[in-house]
Parts: sequence; C-alpha cells; structure tokens
Amino acid sequence: MDEERRYHIEFQPLGIRGEISSEQSLLECARELQLDLISVCGGAGTCGKCRIRVIKGAVSELQNEEQDALSRDEIQRGFRLACRTYAKENLLIEIPAESLSAPQRLQVEGSIGPIRVDPIVRKVDVSLTAPSLSDAEGDDERLYQGLEGQHGVLCTAIDRGLLSSLSSVMRKNDWHVSAKVRASEVISVSSRGNRSMGVAIDLGTTKIAGYLVDLETGQTLAAKGVANPQISYGEDVIARMNRALVSSKDALALQTLVVDSLNTLCKELCQQIPDATPSDIDEFVIVGNTAMHHLVLRLPIEQLVGAPYIPAVKRAMDVKARDLGLVAATGAYVHFVPNVGGFVGGDHLAMLLATKPWETRGPVLALDIGTNTEVSVIADGQISALACASGPAFEGAHISCGVRAASGAIDHVRIEGEKLNYHTIQNREPIGICGSGVFDILAQLFINGIINRNGRLEAGHPRVRVRDSRREFVVVGEDERKGGPAITVTQDDIRELQLAKAAIQAGVTILLKEKGLSHQDVEKVILAGAFGTYLDISSIIAIGMLRAIPMERYRQIGNAAGAGARAALVSARERAEVTRLAKHVRYIELATVAEFNKTFIEAIAIGQEV
Ligand code: FES
Repeated sequence: MDEERRYHIEFQPLGIRGEISSEQSLLECARELQLDLISVCGGAGTCGKCRIRVIKGAVSELQNEEQDALSRDEIQRGFRLACRTYAKENLLIEIPAESLSAPQRLQVEGSIGPIRVDPIVRKVDVSLTAPSLSDAEGDDERLYQGLEGQHGVLCTAIDRGLLSSLSSVMRKNDWHVSAKVRASEVISVSSRGNRSMGVAIDLGTTKIAGYLVDLETGQTLAAKGVANPQISYGEDVIARMNRALVSSKDALALQTLVVDSLNTLCKELCQQIPDATPSDIDEFVIVGNTAMHHLVLRLPIEQLVGAPYIPAVKRAMDVKARDLGLVAATGAYVHFVPNVGGFVGGDHLAMLLATKPWETRGPVLALDIGTNTEVSVIADGQISALACASGPAFEGAHISCGVRAASGAIDHVRIEGEKLNYHTIQNREPIGICGSGVFDILAQLFINGIINRNGRLEAGHPRVRVRDSRREFVVVGEDERKGGPAITVTQDDIRELQLAKAAIQAGVTILLKEKGLSHQDVEKVILAGAFGTYLDISSIIAIGMLRAIPMERYRQIGNAAGAGARAALVSARERAEVTRLAKHVRYIELATVAEFNKTFIEAIAIGQEV
C-alpha cells in the first residue's frame, strides 16, 4: 500500500489554502477547508456537479464517472470532478462559480397573523432574604419559596446545570435576581434586567432560517437565513441519510455541522441586538422534515430510509439545548414540533399552523415545494397530507446548467420568436439557471412550440442545436459568455423537469381525488417555501403542474414554516395547537396508493390535460 503523503493545496479564486492528504479526495479536502462545493450526490460521482479545474500540479488518473460527466473539451482544459480526484503533488485549483453553493437567495420572510403571546418561559423577578444563622434554609428552597410566596409560581425543579452556579449568582446579585421558569422548572437565574429571548428555526434540507424573538412581547428582533452545511454530504435527505447509515463518523459530522451552523446563526442574530448574547436564549423551537429532525437528534434512520418509511419518533420532543451542543441559557430547552410521517415533518405542520387553512370556507390545497414537496388538502374539517419525491430540480440540481438561487442565477425567462430575455438574481452575469428559471424555460419552450407535449425538443428553432449527440436549447451562448461554456437546457434536463413536475402533479391529483374534489373546487392554493414564492404561477400552470383556476385563488406566502415555528415559540396555545394538528392529519404514503404509477405517468405530459 502506498504511504500517505501530504501536499499543499490552494483553491482559487477564493484564495483558500490548506493541506491535502493523498488519501483524501479534493471534495473531502474542500469540505475540511469549509468550502461550499456543490456535491448533489454527496461524493458518489454521479451528479457531475463538483467540477473544478486543475491549474497546476499532478492529480490521479481520470475515472470513468468523469469521462461520462465532462466533455472532451472540458477534460482538455483541466476540468475534473472533485470527488474523484486525488492529489499527487502540490496543487493550484480553480473553482468555477457554478460549483460553489453559496451565497444563495435564502428566504426568511413569511406571513404570520397576530399571535397572542402566551409565554412558555416566564421571567420572574424575586427579592430574597439573605440567609443567617437563624435562617439556614438551602439556596434552592429559598428560591422556591420566593417564587411561590411573591408570585404564586410553584416550581418543583431547578435545572441540574444551574445548580452549580445558583448560589454564587444569588449572592453576587445581593439576592435580587430574575428567574426564568418553564412549566414547573427553573431553567436560569441571572441579574435583573436580563431579557428573555427565544429562537425559532426552520431547518430545511437546503437552507436554515433563524428568527430571534422576544419571548415577552412576541416581537421578532432579528432574522437570518444560511445554507444548510450538510449540502456537502448530498443535496437531498436520502443521500445524507445513506451517508449517515454507512459511516457513524459521517452521521456525527452531519449533526455537528448543523449544530455548529445553528450556534453561528444564533450568535449573528444576537449581534444585531444591543447587549444580547446567546446566553439570553431561553427556548428554541425547531421545525424540519422528518429526516432533518432525525439527523440532528441522532435518532435511528434505518427504518426511515426503506419502505414503509417509519419515523423513530413522531411526537413532539423537548431536549436540553446543551445536550445538542447548542449555546444558550443554562437550562434552555429545544422543542421539536411533531412529525406527521416518514416524509412529512414538523415544518409542514408549522406551515399549516401559520396559514390556518381550515379558516377558509372552501377546500384549500397547501404545497411546500422543494426537494421533497409536502402537499395537504384541507376540506370538511379534515386534513390529508402526503409527500412527493419531486427531487432537487427545483433547487436547480440534476439540471446540466442548474445552480441554486444564488447571485447570477437565471431566475426568469421569456421567449418571443427567436428572441430570448432572461433575468438574473442581482442582475449579475449569468452563471446558470435556478429552479424558477428552469420551470420558466420549460413553460416558454412549450408555449412557443419548441417542445411538444412529450417534452421532445423539436429541431428548427435557431436556439436548438446538437452537441455531443444530444439536442439542447441555448439560453446563453458561448459568444455572450465571452468564451465560457454556453448555458443550455438539454433534452435530459427536460426529462428531469417533467419527472419533478409529474411527482407533484400526481400527488395533488391523488389527494384531491381521494377527497372527491376537482381542481375547480379548490378555494385557495397556498404555495410556501422559497421556490413556491419565487416561481411564476403562469409557468407552473402552462406546464400543467397546477390547473388553470382563477389567479386570485393562488397565494405565495414565503417561509410559512418559519412563521409557524415562531408562533409555537411564543405561545403555549399555538404549541398545543400544532401538537393537536399532528394527531389530526391523515398521512398518506404514496407508495401504498394503487393508482400512483398510472397518475404519475399521465402527469409526465406537458401542458394542461385536454
Ligand atoms: S459527482 Fe462529485 S459530488 Fe457528485
């Protein structure tokens, strides 16, 4: 066996330098150096997204997967897949913009109606009498008596971690302290005037949205979105769970990455508020899909990955923040909203909690579109929900020139005859096409007769050409990119998009049919999530994913899961409501629906059903 060697490596244009072992792929090294290289397949060599260019230095032999993923021209120019390339000497590497996953457009806004604050954690100021030889009561008992005697707050426990600092904090503050009480437990004691804050987290597969909230007023003090760092282990939850299943080291890394990212996020949120620190955080609420929930709690996932896709835990959970590694007040808790089923988690419940679709008179269709799309139909006082494996096309992944919604991503496209107009995020030079852009293109190709109902690219349009024996549509040509590779949509991309739209369309059709409803019966269609917010509804209707019902029935509502998490953070009543909802939602596992395959195949055709 060859001896392990270490080399110097530099990644350009970011100028990040470090060391690489000869046994480490360039992707693994990039992760270690905290570089967000896109790796949709988690390093399996199948997605072709982790492209880098070797500028200087010798690397391992080209592998079969790279020959499949890269064109001859790219290979000649030094392009390689980072997950399949190993160093043989010191290296200088270039990372093209489209291989970097950050920064993304991360949506944190979401509509939330007025919530009556009904705090889970109460701040209680107490003034205690100092002990003496004639009053030698224990410090804990003194606090219990003060809380009950002065405020009628009956407590039966003090957080175990708090006990080690309780005596000194009370003496240092001359026996005038603020106690934070959660149910009947004292979770922190500090000097008077300390604020009581909480953090609501929407833990998504691609992004994490965090909200710092004043627990006494319910006011959102600061909000921020960051990319989920687990992306370097795979774009979708299945890839990540498979990584966690084969390697306990990866399972731990997946959890640690999220916890570290949450700690950084909380610190940055606190920095936006004068004098606030993470030690003022008394409570967290986390909502996420079932897989994210299990990965962060290190719950077993074997039974979640294979049929019948069973969650290890469905009920709501309260765990100490410190047990997860989160920096917060001494005895702070993290509340996890319940899961509905294997692929419908607390984030969907939080979305329902925020939008309260049951208050609409007629039937409501609610969708949270993403890699995993959750769909609910709310009608006659009942809620039915299912999840569709729509895949990462909505995030721009699995599409040859797809990128996530970052600066320079093409997000809107219009075709008029031979002319094509596009818009990029922040009006930057185009780097690729993000989810809303690819679905716009699909719709525009269909409307302009460039593809037929089966999705076949027709020859004849000046932007349709053949490259490497594949037909493709040129969105931005090489000339416009000043010699850079053209941005195109290939026939394979169109197939991928058809599968994504068919998955959602089939899910919606099955749910409505199951309730005996037609699309025209639907009073309101709620579209949540970043993709649901930025997509052009007319495009989604043109391709047939949703039906042509009056436009005013559609609502694009932003990050409603985050809004629901905030509601569950500041109100015990809302928290009880979301817990009740979990029992009330009827979960349908698509794999058990007999007509799913037929419905799915029918939904692959583009355009409204005729
Ligand atoms: S091909 Fe390298 S991460 Fe997918």
